[in-house]
Amino acid sequence: MSDTPRTVIVTGAARGIGASAARRLSRDGHAIGIIDLDADACQAVVDEIVAEGGTAQGFAADVSDEASVKAAVDAIALAMGPPLVLVNNAGILRDNLLFKMTVDDWDAVMGVHLRGAFLMSRAAQRHMIEARWGRIVNLSSTSALGNRGQANYAAAKAGMQGFTKTLAIELGKFGVTANAVAPGFIETDMTRATAERLKVSFEDFLTHTAS
Ligand code: NAI
Repeated sequence: MSDTPRTVIVTGAARGIGASAARRLSRDGHAIGIIDLDADACQAVVDEIVAEGGTAQGFAADVSDEASVKAAVDAIALAMGPPLVLVNNAGILRDNLLFKMTVDDWDAVMGVHLRGAFLMSRAAQRHMIEARWGRIVNLSSTSALGNRGQANYAAAKAGMQGFTKTLAIELGKFGVTANAVAPGFIETDMTRATAERLKVSFEDFLTHTAS
């Protein structure tokens, strides 16, 4: 990303990968709008960034809810300037083997990852188009290639790649790039929850999954 300071939105940034991305982007000189479900949960990351001399504000929004997304993106644009960088990071797991997976498990995962990335990107892109510059980064996963117990998550993360390519095709001519990153195992609350679900200690899970 260029060195020009921008207003950045990172979704699901109250903890985990999103919080790390927010801290890093702040060190690069950008102002960070931190979106998560609960504004209070964002405060610790906001405080850390501000204590380091950066600029950050927390905004409560459910990325899968159209009105909530619009309100948050409008509020960020008003308070911090037009958001020209968007990291679609918010995510959930509702792991289960196919025969036990409920429609709610399926819809919830699709709702946060895919519908969330769609709603956020659609709301933010108008600022990027206006500026003729923008960057959208979407979190996919190595699970996009398939993973036991993750029919919903794998489908969402594979969908994220097609979504990203389409954004790049549609928005590229306006100076807006779209890229997906597909991490493997990263130690966060999300992967701790997976270890719990599998009823193994986090240490054993680390040894078998991340080695
Ligand atoms: P995490 O569970 O630690 O953090 C996710 C954050 O998203 C939480 O703060 C949560 O409150 C927020 N969130 C959930 N639903 C939301 C909603 N509807 N609206 C707004 N915020 C919402 O997860 P982690 O591990 O930091 O993952 C971040 C992203 O990276 C996710 O998209 C995940 O699928 C992806 N990823 C994670 C990997 C890992 O090994 N941890 C590997 C590959 C991808």
